[in-house]
Amino acid sequence: MVNTIQTSIYPRGCTFSESDWDALHRFWYPVAFSHEVTEQPVAATLLDQRLVLWRTAAGVSIANDLCFHRGVPLSMGYVEKEHLICKYHGFHYAADGRCTYVPANPEASIPVRLCLKTYPAKEAYGLIWTTLAGGELYNFPEFDEWDDPNYLQILPDAVDLNAAAGRQVEGFLDVAHFAWVHVETFGDRNNPVVPRYEVEPTPKGLRAEYLSTVSNFPKALQDRAPADFQWLRVFEVFLPFTARLTVHFPGEGRLCILNAASPVSARKTRIFVPICRNFDQDTPLEPVYEFNYKVFAEDKEMVEAQYPEDLPLDLSMESHVGADKTSIAYRKGLIKLGLSNAYTS
Ligand code: FES
Ligand SMILES: [Fe+2]
Repeated sequence: MVNTIQTSIYPRGCTFSESDWDALHRFWYPVAFSHEVTEQPVAATLLDQRLVLWRTAAGVSIANDLCFHRGVPLSMGYVEKEHLICKYHGFHYAADGRCTYVPANPEASIPVRLCLKTYPAKEAYGLIWTTLAGGELYNFPEFDEWDDPNYLQILPDAVDLNAAAGRQVEGFLDVAHFAWVHVETFGDRNNPVVPRYEVEPTPKGLRAEYLSTVSNFPKALQDRAPADFQWLRVFEVFLPFTARLTVHFPGEGRLCILNAASPVSARKTRIFVPICRNFDQDTPLEPVYEFNYKVFAEDKEMVEAQYPEDLPLDLSMESHVGADKTSIAYRKGLIKLGLSNAYTS
């Protein structure tokens, strides 16, 4: 994919190199949960750009979180009569970002400069997604189970990491750490071998099918699967930072996990993880949330400790073994997007 957008204005205090920011800003990332954006505006940061999200009858609006009058974040304000109102002097902004009312000088014409810089918004999978570029749906992830009545939808809280998005996504794709990092949740120290598996490129990224005897049931429930059940895990990556995992459970059960990493800055990431399953639809969800938070916490410890903090795209910088096939393909995919080896400035 060739980067044709050279006119970007980089966010204040941008932690990415300009070329990496150019490469990354064209894609779509989740920035909030749909249910969060109601009467109150919500602040979010994407690729170092501070954003405000608010909802009107027209849907969700997203703009730079800055009132050009005196530099106050609009997320401090509120929504009233279909307008976002700045907390400092009450300027009113319409859903399309136009300033429509200046209470201190209601008769005067409104400076053109007061128009907010807005971005497209898309609600999908319980999340609000945006892109800092034109709006084409580059590599938008597929997660149809979210809208499938045969599936139960589960939406854990987002997890904030002091880590690069690439490191987090690679960790999600890594199948060799189950026996070590997830030994208290579902992994088994006595089952560390990663059988050979294949990775293939797809138009949006890559796909890997991994067959092993590592159970996906929480430890206490592992007798629910036959002893040598072969667990199929299908990983699909939507470059740069979203991946989905479909786990094939016994009896046609399917667990689908969307790991959507939102790069707040070069070394801060917020992960949104909508989950769907077509089994155990009437059991209480508390243990499911608890299990997932525990797994996230186990991963967080590793990902936040890794250094260099940026995912080394130059393959010679770390050593690789056969089990790392997916992560090697993932790093190569990021290089193809135009990301540099240094990754951050
Ligand atoms: S700073 Fe927003 S209205 Fe004055
Ligand atoms: Fe993990």
